[in-house]
Amino acid sequence: MADLDDLREGCNFGLGIQTADRSFHVKGAENLPWGMKARLSRIFNPKTGKTVMLACDHGFIMGPTSGLERIDLNIVPLIEYADCLMCTRGILRSVIPPTANKPICLRSDAGTSILTSLNDNVLIDVEDAIRMNVSAMAVMLAIGDTEHEATTVANLYKAVDKGTRYGIPVMGVTAVGKDMARDARYFGLASRIAAENGANIVKTYYCDGFEKVAAACPVPVVIAGGKKLPELEALELCYNAINEGAAGVDMGRNVFQSEAPAAMIQAVSAVVHDNMKPIQAFELFNELKSK
Ligand code: 5RP
Repeated sequence: MADLDDLREGCNFGLGIQTADRSFHVKGAENLPWGMKARLSRIFNPKTGKTVMLACDHGFIMGPTSGLERIDLNIVPLIEYADCLMCTRGILRSVIPPTANKPICLRSDAGTSILTSLNDNVLIDVEDAIRMNVSAMAVMLAIGDTEHEATTVANLYKAVDKGTRYGIPVMGVTAVGKDMARDARYFGLASRIAAENGANIVKTYYCDGFEKVAAACPVPVVIAGGKKLPELEALELCYNAINEGAAGVDMGRNVFQSEAPAAMIQAVSAVVHDNMKPIQAFELFNELKSK
C-alpha cells in the first residue's frame, strides 16, 4: 500500500484550462476505437458535446416510486426529448419501444432492495447488453462503504474489461458512504477512482467546489439530479453544473416528478445544450407547461 504519511489534498486543478487534445467532442475519448466513439457520439451530442440523460432505473431497488409507477405512461412520452435513456434491462425489454431509437445507458449491475443493506452487486452478462444494442453500461461504485466498496470496484473493473472487448463504454455511478460528507472531496475521490478504473463516463452529484471534481476527472462527468427541487432551483443546479464543467445531466426525479415532466426535460435540455440562463429556462418551462 502507498505511504499515507505525506498524502496531500490536491490544490492545483488548472481550472479554466482545457485538456490538451479535444479533437473528439467527448473528454478523454480521443484514443478510443471506432465503436466506442460511435456509441459515445450517440449519447453526447457532437455539436454541443453535452447530453441530457433521462434516468428511470430507480425501481431496480426501490420499486414503483412516485413518478415511476407506470413507465409506459410516465417515461415513454418523455423519451423523444432525451438524448439517452438510463434504465434496467427488465424495463427496456418490457416497456420501451425499440422504435424509440434512443441510445440506452443500461443499468448493468443488480442490487438488493432498499429494505436490506445497500447492495450486493451482480454484473450483467455483457452478451445480454450487446443483444439489446446498448450504448453504455452503468455500474455503481460505492466509495467509503466498507461492506460494499470492494465488490463495486471489482464490478466496475470487470464491466470495463467486458465493455472494452466489445466497444461498449461504461458509466461509473458514484455513491459515497452514509457517514461521508457529500462534498467535493468525496465526490471527487469517487469520480476519480471510477475514471482510473476505466469508466468512460462518471455520474456524480453537484456540490460546492464541483469545478474541481469535473477538472480532476479525465472523462466526462454528468450529474444526477437528486431529490426533487422546485423547477427553478433544479434548472439553476443544471446551469451551475454545466458552467463548472459537467458534460450533462443524468436526471430522474427532477424531471419525472415535475408537475410538467415534458416541459421540464425540454427546459433542462435548453440549459444543457444552449447554456440558457435558469430564469429564461424557467420561463420556457412555464410556456411549455401551459400548452
Ligand atoms: C442511482 C441512480 C439514479 O438513476 C440517479 O440517482 C438519478 O436519478 P435522480 O436524478 O432522481 O437522482 O443512478 O444509482
